[in-house]
Amino acid sequence: MNAPPVIDVQGLVKRYGKLTAVDGLDLRVSPGSIYGLLGPDGAGKTTTLRCLVGSIGFQGGTVTVAGHDLQRETERVRALIGYMPQRFALYPDLTLDENLEFFADLYQVSRQDRAERVPRLMAFTRLAGHNQKLARQLSGGMKQKLALCTVLVHRPRVLLLDEPSTGVDPVSRHEFWDILLALKQEGVAILVTTPYMDEAEKCDRVGMMARGRLLVEGTPEELRRSFPYRVLAVTARPLFQARQILASLPAVRTAVLHGDDVHIVVQDPEQAAGEVRAQLAQRGVDVEDVQEIAAGLEDVFVHELVSRGLATPRGAKGGLAGGGH
Ligand SMILES: Nc1ncnc2c1ncn2[C@@H]1O[C@H](COP(=O)(O)OP(=O)(O)OP(=O)(O)O)[C@@H](O)[C@H]1O
Ligand SMILES: [Mg+2]
Repeated sequence: MNAPPVIDVQGLVKRYGKLTAVDGLDLRVSPGSIYGLLGPDGAGKTTTLRCLVGSIGFQGGTVTVAGHDLQRETERVRALIGYMPQRFALYPDLTLDENLEFFADLYQVSRQDRAERVPRLMAFTRLAGHNQKLARQLSGGMKQKLALCTVLVHRPRVLLLDEPSTGVDPVSRHEFWDILLALKQEGVAILVTTPYMDEAEKCDRVGMMARGRLLVEGTPEELRRSFPYRVLAVTARPLFQARQILASLPAVRTAVLHGDDVHIVVQDPEQAAGEVRAQLAQRGVDVEDVQEIAAGLEDVFVHELVSRGLATPRGAKGGLAGGGH
């Protein structure tokens, strides 16, 4: 992780009129690593990626990719990047092969290179055998894999992937991430946005973005370890009433729905557990269990957002980009 960063973003500022969508962002991604960018809707994730690939201009800061300044050497930088936008457009009435051909033409990949590269990508993503299918006949997971192939056909050193697995079934998401992990082993630097915590856990570093800035950043392990509070999982019915009462207790910093439980962030778990049981019981809420759990990335992120008033505590999934498990 000590290699010089392939992506080096310093003080990036992007404004749309009066709105500052990216507000002085610093970001570094090393070769052979995956950086996960998380954040609620409108945090500025897509805008950041679009600035990095040069598809929109920006008002401040510098972006350097493999030592090349984006603004001075835009074309050179673009050639190093594979960019999969949030709504990636494959050609639905072209076959898989034809889609790949199209992108190979676009990136001016030589005949020889594509003859070597395309079958490898198809095998790698386990799409081989489907070459003559039309893109529109593919499942959601296969479409995303084909989209990934099309941005890999020119051997980019940098991948920018904007929610590449949102809405894809869990098995396909897993396969998709196995491909990303293999690309990382080949030395590709990957910057990926995701609403899924299990994917964030697979990243070497993660950054939590809100209102155009990074709120917290580090390895998943660092973020969990540096969390200064403790987490209790409260199982109680009715659930929504329990959350509301918990949120009002002085010992509780945040109370967020998490599946069928309420996760509460507290300073002193023993004292808080006693207070929680007593207060809920007193107000007619049935308490099944109160148990300390290790803080997960989701607890860390949601606490950051909720405690700063940047998300509603309606649940961790809603608090981030609206994804689920
Ligand atoms: N072309 C545009 N013109 C004006 N405002 C824009 C434009 N694109 C994005 N924005 C605004 O910039 C902010 C950041 O948007 P962006 O799409 O980067 O967020 P995001 O983090 O990708 O959100 P999501 O999780 O919903 O994809 C939002 O307030 C959005 O409304
Ligand atoms: Mg987006």
